[in-house]
Amino acid sequence: MNKHEILIDKSKCIGCSLCANDCVAHNITMENKKANVIANDCIMCGHCVAICPKGAMSISGYETEPVEKEQSTSLNPDDVLNVIRFRRTIRQFQKKPIPQGVLDQILETGKLTHTAKNMQDVSYIVLDKEKEQIEAYAVSLFRKIKPIAGIFSSMVKRVNIGDHFMFFEAPTVIVITAKNTINGALAAQNMEFVAEANGLGVLFSGYFTMAANISPKIKKKLGIMKGKKVITTLVLGYPKVKYQRSVQREEVDVTYL
Ligand SMILES: Cc1cc2nc3c(=O)[nH]c(=O)nc-3n(C[C@H](O)[C@H](O)[C@H](O)COP(=O)(O)O)c2cc1C
Ligand code: SF4
Ligand code: SF4
Repeated sequence: MNKHEILIDKSKCIGCSLCANDCVAHNITMENKKANVIANDCIMCGHCVAICPKGAMSISGYETEPVEKEQSTSLNPDDVLNVIRFRRTIRQFQKKPIPQGVLDQILETGKLTHTAKNMQDVSYIVLDKEKEQIEAYAVSLFRKIKPIAGIFSSMVKRVNIGDHFMFFEAPTVIVITAKNTINGALAAQNMEFVAEANGLGVLFSGYFTMAANISPKIKKKLGIMKGKKVITTLVLGYPKVKYQRSVQREEVDVTYL
């Protein structure tokens, strides 16, 4: 039996065809001016539920109900651009824990982020008690790699791989795993925005991500599911630093054809 089933309350259906016209899987037909679902093997995107003006469509098997959209949730484009302009990677954190409610909201953001084919393949590992030990594994791995990597980069040669080289003593780390790289990356970016809206600063730890993907020991410790890989690692905490201005970037590299 399918975990989810698309249900139509035909007594509410007014035959407007909005659901059928918006269904990417061509899974809805109109019969006798009523919507009719062909099968439950679609991608369960929920567009039919979201678009129905009469609330006639529903999908069973979820723990939460759809939320009614009371008002427009449009964003001011200049504000959004400035959030992106002024965000900086944070590597200095206050010794202040992140409240569970804020963490829950950040994880909810990941959950709500769209995925290719509605795969919902993104998982989160919050490093808490084991954070220091897992960081120590990754640091030790990088210390071993450094002499070789240093041959190719003078910057790498200069870098001191301290005990907190990966997580910078941040209170919380979220390792994001997924089957599809873009799905994990989209969730991560949205989570960063919500984290920042809560006054947090974020570092995307590429070094830890690399360590986790090459080290069987770290992979095992994280309990990464088969078919998934670490997409990125969010290091989160209240910033100890404040930036006064934006930074310069190269001109946008764009081609119009
Ligand atoms: C995918 C990704 C991985 C990164 N990995 C690391 C990392 O492991 N350690 C680190 O100190 N910074 C890391 N950074 C931060 C980048 O160095 C930083 O974004 C860049 O220098 C620009 O600075 P800004 O984010 O403050 O604008 C990473 C950034 C991204 C997007
Ligand atoms: S959108 Fe709703 S009311 Fe319109 S056809 Fe579909 S189920 Fe019926
Ligand atoms: S859930 Fe999406 S794919 Fe499935 S019937 Fe509804 S609109 Fe179509």
